[in-house]
Amino acid sequence: MKVLVTGGAGYVGGNVAKVLIEEGHTVTVIDDLTTGNADLIPDGAEFVHGDVRDVAADVLTDGGFDGVAHFAARSLVGESVERPQDYWHHNVVTSLALLDAMRHAHVDNLVFSSTAATYGEPETVPITEDFPTRPTNPYGATKLSIDYMITSYAHAFGLGATSLRYFNVAGAYHGQGENRRVETHIIPIILQVALGHRDGVKIFGDDWPTKDGTCIRDYIHVRDLADAHLLALEKNKPGVHNIYNLGSGDGYSVREVIDMCRMVTGHPIPADVAPRRAGDPAVLIASSDKARTELGWKPCHTDLETIVSTAWEFTQTLGDRAHSVHLTT
Ligand SMILES: NC(=O)c1ccc[n+]([C@@H]2O[C@H](COP(=O)([O-])OP(=O)(O)OC[C@H]3O[C@@H](n4cnc5c(N)ncnc54)[C@H](O)[C@@H]3O)[C@@H](O)[C@H]2O)c1
Repeated sequence: MKVLVTGGAGYVGGNVAKVLIEEGHTVTVIDDLTTGNADLIPDGAEFVHGDVRDVAADVLTDGGFDGVAHFAARSLVGESVERPQDYWHHNVVTSLALLDAMRHAHVDNLVFSSTAATYGEPETVPITEDFPTRPTNPYGATKLSIDYMITSYAHAFGLGATSLRYFNVAGAYHGQGENRRVETHIIPIILQVALGHRDGVKIFGDDWPTKDGTCIRDYIHVRDLADAHLLALEKNKPGVHNIYNLGSGDGYSVREVIDMCRMVTGHPIPADVAPRRAGDPAVLIASSDKARTELGWKPCHTDLETIVSTAWEFTQTLGDRAHSVHLTT
């Protein structure tokens, strides 16, 4: 297949681009490098530096593409609350431009990075795809809107599409891991402490109704995530929009994650308890049964030790390239 990967200089997009190339596919990456790093674009991929809104139509027209994997987005929950306009423009307008470019270029095969944030605060777990979607922040709302947009293009124009609602993506694969300028994800933040780039981590609440009082989240290894994208691109059917949750189906508490990072890195990783954050659900665990049954997805790297070890191996190779080098806390 010849696949266009938007956001392929990002953490997840760069990994999927790498696995696509390893599996013998041809890849073109569009990325404006707003949050991405050019060194995450895998060898062998063609790179078009630009905003999807500006360049997708030209790249797709007569490009002979068989499919598109769409990762380009802003994805910081807090920032989306403070600057919603950036999220509606960046996420929704960009996706609309991409869908129109695909329609005009007769490319009818799409896999889209949706998110667990589309569900908001579920009353029970594990979360299945038929749970109510009640996003609690603009980030989740933009992703849900794009899902609706994709469904309507599938029905009206025969687009074959899959939205993958990821839970917490983590880990690294073949030199591709998390190294963001603004980091909000728990595992890279903890590992920045082990690197000596932060003094410690905060645990937001230790009085949640969970086994050790800290929040429980579902972690999925980025390599397993990549497999799901390849399966979706192969299985998409014209006129059908499928939505799948992707997680490991197991949850780990914040304390368990910190303890695993201590074990893997050998660093004491100081941790202080801070007040709960508004909008943090106590437990988020995905049911990925539908993806396993319908896509034939079989995650292989589900244990926390593998996830943390691969992330730590990657983090140690960063040296001066680690964006956290510039942190002061
Ligand atoms: N990382 C997670 O845990 C997680 C969980 C759920 C969903 N997602 C979704 O997965 C996708 C990738 O996430 P990530 O963690 O790799 O983020 P990331 O910030 O590392 O990657 C996003 C990439 O898109 C690029 N980009 C953004 N807007 C663009 C535009 N208009 N034109 C061209 N390039 C643009 C950025 O420069 C960056 O390289 C996002 O859509 C995110 O919402 C991520």
